[in-house]
Amino acid sequence: MPRTMGKKKKKKKKLVKRVKKKKAKSDSSSATPAKRKKEPAKTTAAKPEPEKRSRRASKPQGKATAESMAKAQREISVSEFFTKNRHLLGFDSPRRALLTTVKEAVDNSLDACEEAGILPDLLVELQAMKAENRYTVIVEDNGPGIVKTQIPNIFGKLLYGSKFHRLRQSRGQQGIGISAAGMYGQLTTGNAVRITSRTGRKRAAHYFEVRLNTAKNKPDTNDREVEWDKDHGTRVEIDMEAEYRRGMRSVDEYLKQTAVSNPHVHIVYKDPGGNETVYERGTKELPHETKEIKPHPYGVELGLLLKMLQDSKERTLTSFLKHEFSRVGDRVAKEICDTAKLSPRGRPSRIAKSEVESLHAAINKVKILAPPTNCIAAIGEETLLAGLKKEVKADFYVSTTRSPSVYRGNPFVVEAALAYGREGDTMEVTETGKIVARKKASAADTELLGAGDETIKLVRYANRVPLQFQAGGCAITKAVTGVNWRSYGLQQPRGALPVGPMVLIVHIASVWVPFTSESKEAIASYPEIIKELKLAIQECGRKLGTHIRKGRRIATEHQKRSYIEKYLPHIGIGLQEILGLSDKVRDKDVEILRGVLERSRKI
Ligand SMILES: Nc1ncnc2c1ncn2[C@@H]1O[C@H](COP(=O)(O)OP(=O)(O)O)[C@@H](O)[C@H]1O
Ligand SMILES: [Mg+2]
Repeated sequence: MPRTMGKKKKKKKKLVKRVKKKKAKSDSSSATPAKRKKEPAKTTAAKPEPEKRSRRASKPQGKATAESMAKAQREISVSEFFTKNRHLLGFDSPRRALLTTVKEAVDNSLDACEEAGILPDLLVELQAMKAENRYTVIVEDNGPGIVKTQIPNIFGKLLYGSKFHRLRQSRGQQGIGISAAGMYGQLTTGNAVRITSRTGRKRAAHYFEVRLNTAKNKPDTNDREVEWDKDHGTRVEIDMEAEYRRGMRSVDEYLKQTAVSNPHVHIVYKDPGGNETVYERGTKELPHETKEIKPHPYGVELGLLLKMLQDSKERTLTSFLKHEFSRVGDRVAKEICDTAKLSPRGRPSRIAKSEVESLHAAINKVKILAPPTNCIAAIGEETLLAGLKKEVKADFYVSTTRSPSVYRGNPFVVEAALAYGREGDTMEVTETGKIVARKKASAADTELLGAGDETIKLVRYANRVPLQFQAGGCAITKAVTGVNWRSYGLQQPRGALPVGPMVLIVHIASVWVPFTSESKEAIASYPEIIKELKLAIQECGRKLGTHIRKGRRIATEHQKRSYIEKYLPHIGIGLQEILGLSDKVRDKDVEILRGVLERSRKI
């Protein structure tokens, strides 16, 4: 049986193959485009014939040639690029655009004030314009002001700033913040950005209207002197299409979080409804001044090294290494030159490409001290706690600041703080061993903690700036979800944030924060950064674990004691009957018994 069946099957297979071949020949319309070209007439009768022929006859018409492509090839200005890709800068929706604009202006004001050693006094105002969905964003500071000749470029040219070419901790770094906000405003309303600035009491204030010419990435401006009651400072006004909403990821939340991480700042905030919120200064101390540092040799990539060599004015390779990098002295410079087999006296600009490669390899072989860390200003454990306590009333607080570490040659510091549980959630044991309940906090004071059965609230900061978008792609979120919170007594769904009434603050400060995009919302996951983040979070987590376990022990003990409390009066009555005690003695004995019990039961 099986044999005959096999033969029949084979025959059938051959037949099927033949039929399939025939079908394929006749049904060439379903074949690849190349095949279709060979046999067009048979199957595509419905399509007009002449067009087909012309396509075959001459050189493909409408197809590009190198020459025709050359006509279309031209420079793309950065502003044209970012007009098309405004999502990269954080302007993808009217709601986010509003927040990004406020953020860029506030960041600049705070950076400028701190650099000038001035305690920041800010006004942030959102005014609804007549047209629907349009707002005027106003940010005013008491900073050093901006020199008149610089205003057009700062507000009317992308990629223009003072912070890109240096390694120093600041909120802005790429020189694309405020000009991009102005460009967005101009695109959506047609209105110019308005700037008032004054650099000192003896100098006049200037008022500018700046427009950005996107094709050329150049500013068009007009200006005049004005009267201004401020001695120094800057006021920026941008009209823009926007959407104002409260709650998560709003301007309100951003300012509140900024007040937590910057207790030295005073902010008056007027929302579109005319409500005024004042964030008072918690301290009169400015963050300690940070130093600008040279790049660390371990962090430079080959291309950058080549450019640095070409641009250098140093005369010898040794002096180049010593002066352009941090942590390179005579001994290290010599060791690098020896390892690379290059003359220490060679001219940096004359070093050939092949030699740069061996220099680059040598740098990474030689042992060099980690970069200095005085260039970083962490918020600090105490300030962080004070900021957190100011904004949320909780049962338990803890904070930690790690010692500095290095990624790609850039120093950075990670700190974490958390507030857990509603005030009064955990009972207290008094000195005499009594268990007492604490006063409960009002709901308004604990709003930030969220409900106990929701995931915790994670607040991310980079160089003191709250990050509100792209949480999923951020190294901080990855580190928090990567920690085992169950061992600290919290529930945690697999691969997610833990669950509980908790606010967790994580801050990373660095001379160069590695953001994943120009909108500066998420931090790249360098292994060194993830490691430090986890260590900081775990340090806080362990202390939280101790608190939660202790709270549970007290609660269990309280329950057991309540049983005893219930029966103590009956024991008293029993004793009174047996021993014939007076009521007074009975009550006294019950009290003694209670005291013994409280003292002797260990918690
Ligand atoms: N309010 C301000 N006060 C003083 N200087 C400012 C102010 N706003 C912006 N600047 C200057 O303009 C530059 C460009 O700002 P911006 O486009 O936001 O880029 P970035 O902050 O990344 O450098 C800043 O580097 C700073 O020197
Ligand atoms: Mg900026």
